[in-house]
Amino acid sequence: MPATTSVTLNTGAVMPTVGLGTWKSKPGQVEHAVEFALKNGYKHIDTAAGYQNETEVGQGIKASGLPREQIFLTTKLDNPDQRHPAKALEASLEKLDTPYLDLWLMHWPAPMTRDGQADKEHDWLDTWKVMESLYLAHPDKLKAIGVSNFSVEYLERLLKVARVVPAVNQIELHPSCPQDDVVEYCQNNGIVLTAYSPLGSDNSPLLKNETVTKIAAKYSVQPANVLISFHANKPMRTVLPKSVTNERILNNAKIIDLTPEEIGELHDIDKTHHFRACHPSWTGFGSLGFPDCK
Ligand code: A2P
Repeated sequence: MPATTSVTLNTGAVMPTVGLGTWKSKPGQVEHAVEFALKNGYKHIDTAAGYQNETEVGQGIKASGLPREQIFLTTKLDNPDQRHPAKALEASLEKLDTPYLDLWLMHWPAPMTRDGQADKEHDWLDTWKVMESLYLAHPDKLKAIGVSNFSVEYLERLLKVARVVPAVNQIELHPSCPQDDVVEYCQNNGIVLTAYSPLGSDNSPLLKNETVTKIAAKYSVQPANVLISFHANKPMRTVLPKSVTNERILNNAKIIDLTPEEIGELHDIDKTHHFRACHPSWTGFGSLGFPDCK
């Protein structure tokens, strides 16, 4: 299929395929990155309370001059806020200086304490129930809710009781972490997948991978364009390349159509070069059900 420019969520809302990622984008840099991206065609910005840059992302949005309704804005409930989502939602809205979120995600199915320990007395499923109630009671503040870093095992537990099917599951996805099981499960349940760390994060070996560089040479684009387009060529998929560098922000928005053979070749990279930029064990909850982390 040709690359998409947007996907439709189970709410009916349209989500632009490529969004600017801001994990590790620091205050002092991220304001400009967001402003520059929005002034140059991006319509989708992803942040999180846990990134500690929501205030600056909000400033970048304001500085861009783009009307709020032209922007798809996502933020995430931080792990230490799982016991009080309503308060955390208000804090995110205030920091981002926006009346509503297009998408609010549970960042990890991993409640934690403020000092970074696993909070095993609290069940993330109870947090989801509060997120659902907030969404149903405040459609003016929340246009969609979803999850992040959910494996099939955790999605199955969620969907057994969910009143609201998550609109999105945002997970690490790139040719060295294709997560076919999660992809298939989400597609079968109408959940859009958003790829984070599509380049493989900082100093990624994927940018030098010979399959990636060969395809990039064929289309006269950078390796990053191949890695980002890999997702845009898949159904029900959005992608969040992160950059704070003007020329890369501009470059990363360029999407190419890939052939099924090229997508297959990229997919095969995982067979010999598997890695995760972000291993779930940092939360204190082990593998979180991801088979490659067990
Ligand atoms: P920077 O933000 O300094 O531009 P991912 O999207 O997988 O999280 O990867 C982000 C990392 O890749 C950051 O270190 C970012 O650097 C770098 N990056 C972003 N765009 C490109 C690009 N087009 N070419 C090479 N590196 C890039």
